[in-house]
Parts: sequence; C-alpha cells; structure tokens
Amino acid sequence: MVLVNHIKGINLVTSATQINELEMSLSPEMEQSLCKDLSLTLAKFPKVRLGHLPTPLEPMDRLSEILGGPRLWVKRDDCTGLSSGGNKTRKLEFLMADAQSKGADTIITQGATQSNHARQTTAAAAKLGMECHILLEDRTGSNDNNYILNGNVLLDRLHGASVSKRSGGTDMNLEMQDFADALIEKGKKPYIIPGGGSNPIGALGYVNCARELTEQASEIGLKIDALVHATGSAGTQAGLVTGLAAIQSSIHLLGIGVRAPKDKQEQMVFDLAQKTADYLDTGIEIERDKVRAICDYVGAGYGLPTDGMIKAVKLLAQSEGLLFDPVYSGKGLDGLIDQIKKGYFAGMDNVVFLHTGGSAALFGYPETFELPGYAN
Ligand SMILES: Cc1ncc(COP(=O)(O)O)c(C=O)c1O
Repeated sequence: MVLVNHIKGINLVTSATQINELEMSLSPEMEQSLCKDLSLTLAKFPKVRLGHLPTPLEPMDRLSEILGGPRLWVKRDDCTGLSSGGNKTRKLEFLMADAQSKGADTIITQGATQSNHARQTTAAAAKLGMECHILLEDRTGSNDNNYILNGNVLLDRLHGASVSKRSGGTDMNLEMQDFADALIEKGKKPYIIPGGGSNPIGALGYVNCARELTEQASEIGLKIDALVHATGSAGTQAGLVTGLAAIQSSIHLLGIGVRAPKDKQEQMVFDLAQKTADYLDTGIEIERDKVRAICDYVGAGYGLPTDGMIKAVKLLAQSEGLLFDPVYSGKGLDGLIDQIKKGYFAGMDNVVFLHTGGSAALFGYPETFELPGYAN
C-alpha cells in the first residue's frame, strides 16, 4: 500500500511499513520547551569547556546540485576547535570533567593507529594539565611510515602524550587496566577513557548536539528531515538517538557503519542509548526502530580505503572545499551519496550530514588519493 502524507506542506510518498516514522512535528513552542528541559538536565553533569560550540550548520549547495537529491547541509563538528576538531571533543567535555571530579591526574585511552579520539584526548589532557597515555591498536597491519608516524600520531606526540603500540585483536580494555595498575603503583591517579569515548558519560556530548542542532535549525526556519553520520564505537549515534528521543524529534537518524556489520552496530548503539537514557534519569524511552545503521561501505575492513570513499573525499574537497577523512567521515559520505542515488531519502527536503571530523588522518594516507607529482 502506498500512502501520501502532508506534513507542513511537504508531500511524502511512502510505504505502509515506513508510516510510523512520519510523526507530526511538534509545535515550535513545545520543541523549544523540550530543548530547554534537556539543557537543564545536562547542566547537572560536570562539564569542562573544550570546544567551540555551537558548531556551524551550513548548506552544501554545490553538492546538492551535483547529486540532484534533497538539499544537503553539513553540521560542522569538524570545527569543534580542539587540535583540528572532531566529534570526540563534545564527548571529552563530559569525560574530562568526570576525570577531574574524581581527582585524576593522568588519562589513559586507546584507539586504532590513526585514532581521532586519541588525538583529541591528548589535546584535552594537555589543556587541562594532565598526563596522557595512548595505546594504539594496529588494526590495519600497515607498515607505511606515514600511517604509523604522521597524521593523528604526529599530533598525539606533539601534545606530549606517550604512545605505544599493541597488535590487532589485543584486548585493549585489559591493556588499559594493566597500564593503569602500573601507574597506580607509582602513585598516579589514572582515569581510563574507553575507546572512542563511548560510554554514557561521553554520549552526553551528542545528547547535547541533538538539542543544539534542533535549536539551530529552528532559528533559521529549517525543517531537518534526516541526519546522517559515520558510526563506529557507537557513542555519537547513541547520544543523538537519546537526545532526539528526549525532545521527541521527528528527524530520521541514520548511521553509516565503518567497522561492524549492521546487526552488531545497531545493537551496540541501542545498548549504549539505553544506558545513556538511564544515566540521564529522566525516563526517556529508546525505541529500537529509531536505531538504524547501513554498514555496506566498510569495504575490506576498518581503516582500509575503498574506491567509494576516495571518490567521496575528492568530490567534497573539490565541490565544497571541505576535508573529510579516509576512515570515518569519508566512508559515511560514500554511504550518504550512494543512498541518495538509491532513493533512500526520496520525499525528503533537507538532509544534514554530521561532519565528525578526522581530516588529520588524511596525512596518514597520502598515497591513497593517487595524486601525481607536479611540474618543477
Ligand atoms: C572522524 C570520526 N567520525 C566518526 C566517528 C565515529 O564516532 P563513534 O565512535 O562515536 O561512533 C569517529 C570515531 O572515532 C571519528 O573519529
């Protein structure tokens, strides 16, 4: 059965199975009041200011024209300001404040070699005068010096953190605990941040982003139909799912997976969203069908380039002057572009891509973009 819905003057043609997603939008007053309540709830948690917030929301008109789909927008979380920016900054505002409130003097975290989370954590620790230790898991097996030493790794070390390598498949949580135990023996007070900063404390950063984006769109009279972003360790999406649920938003949220298969990714996001909602303690219900991930753009594996990612990163660099990364936001964009072509967003007017940052990793992958030499 095909139904036609009229919501705020927009015609949406959809199948009966999709009908549940087309909820009526709240009145602006109601939306404002829910956003205010969420702000007050978030204000109860310790937070340290690290980012340039709110990040800009900008149209991508050249890209929209090239793709001929809905009008595309970009939420510039690559501009959070901390050591070239990215999504971890929002999470770290809550995580570092929690570390401080527990009397920690040292931060330990882990990630893949070109981890953006590690880079932003080293910068946050530097800014707050804390020691920082980074454990890097070799998930790609690359021997390329640029991958091992340049990009995010260069910045981790510039920020004064110690960096040490672990082989792929290592139990990184156990490694961090062992590292912390050794530091405790030396009289340190370490605080462990999980990979990607993805726990209910870190996810609060993206609960807040859901509110920020909603208020920003409302200020310019924009009705956002869908929000798309790269999803990995799940904290970004879990925070957004929880924040959008808190304000009863009708925005269709879609994660593009960069590592795990769909079932596993969605389960991770759902579990963390439920924990985040519990942590907020305001009775928010997380609906399983609001957790959506498409995980068809990973290619051969996490951190391994795909043709689609390369094309997407070049397209955005050359049509919008925007830099995306090879591991996360580039694969997320590949997913966005392909799904536009396949009609996923048919009937939608405004789709926002959350730019989660990561362009520092480009310098770990210089050969990938096959740019020939230039004349002397
Ligand atoms: C640039 C970038 N985008 C997206 C993500 C995914 O965010 P999350 O791990 O919260 O799912 C990451 C995580 O490291 C990232 O660095």
